[in-house]
Amino acid sequence: MTDRVYNFSAGPACLPESVLKQAQKDVWNIRDTGIGILEHSHRDACFDRITHETEADCRAVGNIPDTHAIFWMQGGATSQCYMVPANFLPEGRTADYFQTGKWANDSISEVPLYGNCHICGSSQGSGYNFIPKGDQVKYSDKPVYVQFTSNNTIMGTEFHKEPEAPAGAFLVADMSSNIYSRPMDFSKFGLVYAGAQKNLGPSGVTLLIARKDLIEEPVRPLPSMVAYGNHATKEGRFNTPPTFGVYLMGQVFKWILAEGGLAAMAERNKEKAAIVYDFLDSQDFYTPHAVKEDRSAMNITFKCPTPELDDLFVEQAEAKGLSTLKGHKSVGGMRASIYNAFPKQGCVALVEFMKAFALEHAKTANA
Ligand SMILES: Cc1ncc(COP(=O)(O)O)c(C=O)c1O
Repeated sequence: MTDRVYNFSAGPACLPESVLKQAQKDVWNIRDTGIGILEHSHRDACFDRITHETEADCRAVGNIPDTHAIFWMQGGATSQCYMVPANFLPEGRTADYFQTGKWANDSISEVPLYGNCHICGSSQGSGYNFIPKGDQVKYSDKPVYVQFTSNNTIMGTEFHKEPEAPAGAFLVADMSSNIYSRPMDFSKFGLVYAGAQKNLGPSGVTLLIARKDLIEEPVRPLPSMVAYGNHATKEGRFNTPPTFGVYLMGQVFKWILAEGGLAAMAERNKEKAAIVYDFLDSQDFYTPHAVKEDRSAMNITFKCPTPELDDLFVEQAEAKGLSTLKGHKSVGGMRASIYNAFPKQGCVALVEFMKAFALEHAKTANA
């Protein structure tokens, strides 16, 4: 370990070391232009190249077909909560949403501004600890699209397979916290969006992958900044883009390719998550939040026997260089976020700490 700690933050989150070191240099002088990346115009030749490379590398990483446009916007994943129905849902029609946690609820609450929302599956009744599937899912009659949150960052649950949308409907996914953590078939989606600050780069930029035919015209007149087509046709430069975020996402795509692509990411992520989950399954001091079959490879949620012990765990872990393990306030306990760039040794160190903490406090908890 250097002067850096193991950063379990849910986002903004840890980034690949080699990307950060290159960025340090590029802030001063990128590609021998004599100008740092923070100072380049978004219209100059250097940023032209960065834009085109970022798009091409993003396409290569995800094997995104030509039927889909790749672009980026500001406003975070949260802006997509209204942009999706604004662009796609005609008045009087229905969109189906999976209710699997806070981020899904944020989207659901914006839909009535534009059309009807049908909850096609919900885990609300059990504290969002599972993913609805099989006969827990009831689609409406002829939904325009079906939206789901592919990984529930707060709850620690993940769709390991995307839902099958009914005929005539397209899939929309908020992939903010598991995009590019494993291979996925992007041709199945009408729209995918992801805030970059977990698996792709810094905060301030949101990646969009959209079927071109769906974004040609919004279903209603919209302000120009809200219509997807304007951002897609202008290569994410309809207005001044978050240039540093676009550059850094591009560096992360290059890093993923150099590491062996999404198959390599998947293998590594599976191995890292298993280190923590295997330990959780082997003991009875900590209680995991998510049911076993739906647990996330990106965010691991668990609790100590009491809230007081949760607080002590977080405090003592922090002192040992295991940083930002406090769970979201709506779930409590702990959350270990272990995105693509998070090192395996960090998972090993966490389990060592969990073992020692449990050994020390099991008696108090049982007393
Ligand atoms: C799955 C998911 N969706 C949406 C958001 C909201 O993202 P933003 O803060 O970029 O709007 C988050 C943030 O953590 C998230 O994890």
